[in-house]
Formats: sequence, C-alpha cells, structure tokens
Amino acid sequence: MRTKMVVANWKMNKTPKECKAFFRAFSPLYKGSRNREVVIAPSYICLPQAELSKPASVKLSAQNVSGEASGAYTGEISVEMLKAIPCDYVIIGHSERRLLFHESDEEIQKKVVQVIRGGLGGILCVGETRNERKGHQTLEVITRQLKVGLQGLTSQDLQQVTIAYEPVWAIGTGEVATAIQVEEVHRWIREFIWNKFGIEEASNLRIIYGGSVKAENIYEIASKPNVDGALIGGASLEAKTFIEILERIK
Ligand code: 13P
Repeated sequence: MRTKMVVANWKMNKTPKECKAFFRAFSPLYKGSRNREVVIAPSYICLPQAELSKPASVKLSAQNVSGEASGAYTGEISVEMLKAIPCDYVIIGHSERRLLFHESDEEIQKKVVQVIRGGLGGILCVGETRNERKGHQTLEVITRQLKVGLQGLTSQDLQQVTIAYEPVWAIGTGEVATAIQVEEVHRWIREFIWNKFGIEEASNLRIIYGGSVKAENIYEIASKPNVDGALIGGASLEAKTFIEILERIK
C-alpha cells in the first residue's frame, strides 16, 4: 500500500516570521495520520524556522537544489546544506524552474542524481504546457521528461523518488485538470516505470498531482487509483485552507 503524500509548495511566499505564524495556526488544527505524509516546502530561508515550528510528523522539502555537490556556484544551495537543516525532500524540475529559469531535462537529471545520492527524497515534476496538450503531445512530453530525468537511476534509487504530475496550464490558473485527465497521465507514468524498472517499482512509486488543487476538488482527484496525493501551491499558504485539504486525504 502506498502512503498518500500531500506537499505544500509555498513558492516565493512567506518570511520566516510569517512561516512561524503559519505553524502557530496550523499545529493546533493538524491531526497526523499513518496513511498520509504531509510535507511543507518553504523557501530555503524559511527551512530552519519551519524545522523549529512544525509538528514532529510533518516533513520538510526544499523547492530546488544545485545539481553540483559544492564549489564556486554563487547563490546555489547544495544537498549537503539541505541535509544539515534537516530536510527530507527536494522538489526538482518544477515547471516554474523549467520555464522561467530555463532548466533543461539534463540539468534536472543532475539534480535528481545529487538528491538520491545524498539520501534525500526527490519529487520530480513533469507536465505539459497548454499548447502541448492541444497538440496531443502530452504523453510524449511526459515520457521525455521521465526518460531524461530518471536516467542512470537504479531500482533501488527509485524508492527515493516521487513523481509529481503538474500540467502547466492548471498551475495557478484555477483551471484544474479533470480526474479522468489526471488518472490517464498517472497511469501512463506508472506504465513507463513498469517498463523501465519493473512491476514492483511501479506499484511502489508515488505519483501525486498538482495544479489548482483545493478542498473542493481534491477528494475526486485523490480517489483515482493511480493518484497518491497532491502538490499544492496557492491553497497551502493559509493554515485553515490547507487543513481543509488534508481532512479530505486521510
Ligand atoms: P497551484 O496549486 O497554486 O495551482 O500551484 C500548483 C503548483 O505549482 C504546486 O507545485
């Protein structure tokens, strides 16, 4: 049985003080569940505050990391630095990194390798743009992103990987993908893993959905057989709203 996973991606929001205030509101309302893992991904600078303020069972993720181990890379953050927080996961290849910061599949693959070799969990994001969907290229794009992003990984490495399907057209737009669209892509991703790594690896892999997830739509999406949770942007910023979503994934 795969444990459900709900990840809050705060993107470039909240100062450490605001992060502390979030947990002051969140912690009394939060009820842990053995069937669901909750992960908060604040900015790098909020990670130490989040570590101090969060409930013990809530895990932490970074939103990005360097593909290099250490050295002359001004402004970058390494896996070793994240491990010192300590941080459990890293979001890799978010579409905002791909599109706004021009991260290539190859750079993303280097980050995946750093994260896995460093012993952290990698949340690899994949997803098509609106034009790619319109051009019926969705599955082709996802396949390329997976093929390159997971290159060089062994079956054992894959145990540290979660895939997040985030169609670009559904991110921050209020236009959520239908449960049927989500399930179709998630099934495709699981089949890809089955072919590349094996049936056990495929059935253990968690595939989560992101893109305009809210309390109103999470239940239907998360009840699909190949959906193992959600990656949530806007609706994770306010403690009460995020708790309402968590209540629907138990
Ligand atoms: P929204 O939930 O704001 O659409 O963002 C999704 C996302 O990009 C999470 O990584």
